[in-house]
Amino acid sequence: MSERSFLFVLGSSRAGGNTETLARAAAEHLPEGATASWVNLTDLDVPSFVDLRHEGDGSYPAPEGDAADLLAATLAATDLVIASPLYWYSVSAPVKLYLDHWSAWMRVPGVDFRARMAGRRLWAISSVSNEDRHLADPLIGTLTNTATFMKMTFAGALIGYANRPGDILNDAETLTAAESFFLS
Ligand SMILES: Cc1cc2nc3c(=O)[nH]c(=O)nc-3n(C[C@H](O)[C@H](O)[C@H](O)COP(=O)(O)O)c2cc1C
Repeated sequence: MSERSFLFVLGSSRAGGNTETLARAAAEHLPEGATASWVNLTDLDVPSFVDLRHEGDGSYPAPEGDAADLLAATLAATDLVIASPLYWYSVSAPVKLYLDHWSAWMRVPGVDFRARMAGRRLWAISSVSNEDRHLADPLIGTLTNTATFMKMTFAGALIGYANRPGDILNDAETLTAAESFFLS
């Protein structure tokens, strides 16, 4: 996998929100030759996660339908961008469900999910409605620790200040940072 391929995982519970706007602004400035694909978690029918780790041999059946497509898209990415608004100081429920399914995918025979994700980059983009962006530290911590556990590289966080849809367009500082976010 020589060329970079970015998968943007949109996790807002509304369409056209600030986080997606910020992610699309950053995506205008990908490294040369990189490709971008997008998945909106709320468009997908992803089942509830069930913890089967300590049942039987601890393996999971292969995912089906949208979950199978999501797994394939994840494995195809060199760079995974979690674009989640700050919900209760952490990632949104759709993003949390996506991450919970990683625990299943790691245990699907033949997929080798954890080994294959090792070395890939994990990025965070978020919007918070409080001027104190440090309130997003738990979200960043969740994704940093996830990257460490997966032996991925946590590549950076871009946190905007916005509440109503469109507010992010007033956050000039973050929009400027978006122009070089993926180039570091
Ligand atoms: C369920 C929910 C929880 C939220 N929790 C927080 C929070 O903990 N801290 C915060 O600053 N904003 C919080 N917000 C506000 C959103 O982060 C903010 O409106 C953001 O711009 C939404 O992003 P979006 O437009 O991409 O959906 C919350 C919003 C919702 C709907």
